[in-house]
Amino acid sequence: MLDDQIILGFETSCDETAIAILKGDELLVNTISSQVDIHEKFGGVVPEVASRAHAEMIRNIFHASLNSANLQISDIDIVSTTDGPGLVGSLVVGYNFAKSVAWSIDKPFLTVDHMVGHLAAPLIENRTMKPPFMTLLVSGGHTQIVLVEEWGNYQLLGTTIDDAAGEAFDKLSRFCGFGFPGGPAIQKIGEGGDPNKIELPRPKTKHEYNYSFSGLKTAATNFLNNLDPNDKVTKADFAASYQEAIVDSLLSNFVKAVNETGVKNISGGGGVMANSRLREKMNIFAEKNDLNIYLPTPKLSTDNAAMICVAAQNNLITNDINTDDVRLSSIIT
Ligand code: KG4
Ligand code: ZN
Repeated sequence: MLDDQIILGFETSCDETAIAILKGDELLVNTISSQVDIHEKFGGVVPEVASRAHAEMIRNIFHASLNSANLQISDIDIVSTTDGPGLVGSLVVGYNFAKSVAWSIDKPFLTVDHMVGHLAAPLIENRTMKPPFMTLLVSGGHTQIVLVEEWGNYQLLGTTIDDAAGEAFDKLSRFCGFGFPGGPAIQKIGEGGDPNKIELPRPKTKHEYNYSFSGLKTAATNFLNNLDPNDKVTKADFAASYQEAIVDSLLSNFVKAVNETGVKNISGGGGVMANSRLREKMNIFAEKNDLNIYLPTPKLSTDNAAMICVAAQNNLITNDINTDDVRLSSIIT
């Protein structure tokens, strides 16, 4: 039944206006319109500017997405959208647009948690991912180790007590003028640099699986402020060392959680999972320990609406449904 159903998904929780269409396991469209150019000059996402840009773009992106899939609005069977967490003004634009579409065609309306979207993203390309698995969710706002014992049963084992991993990249990048968003900028600048050139801390917290990144960021800025002009440290060494410190910190708690629970499947998601060094180290860990690993490709790690479609579909299959149904058929009984 679900094999043929056409699911339309919206994702507008931050600065991407994203719309996707999934038919069974075939991704028909994955449109991502980024606002990076708009926010770049501010060095970060300006919430009010982001929601206005979503409001201006969403209608055209919706029509372009339908056209590129060669579909009419009436062909859609299910409408899904992110309902949080994220920037409220941005979320409201996608949520209300999606709900209006569902209402106008009298079709079910499913809401999806943004982090559950990231968690489900590997399914877009690999349907064999099944619980139990441990996932590392790393984005601009969250850093989470989640044990998925079964679909819908998400145990948060560890989280950050201050900055998220993506925030640690973004804030240092802004401080150094490396570019926005910070993660890809630091990765690029660090290419060819020596990741062990600068000694930076791998912060620990009281709770064994929690993270802390604010001290690392301070250590890195202190290093720059106290840099002796005669020190032979290149920008590439500095960026590579900072990236390595974040990746090592992320891995060490995740590895501990995997080893202590004994799960045999691991996965990841969120924008920071697009990082090539993090992916490399996750893959090495999986290979050495004979684990199955499911990582979304970099394009599906950062925000997109395909992950919302696949999470909505998976929630339907596993009967873990959230809805704010506006269909006349559900109101008039
Ligand atoms: O999941 P995401 O696209 O949006 C949020 O839900 O926040 O994650 C965005 C974050 C940003 O902090 C960005 O700097 C980071 O992901 N990011 C990266 C890379 N690409 C995006 N961090 C490290 N390396 C990358 N290649
Ligand atoms: Zn995200």
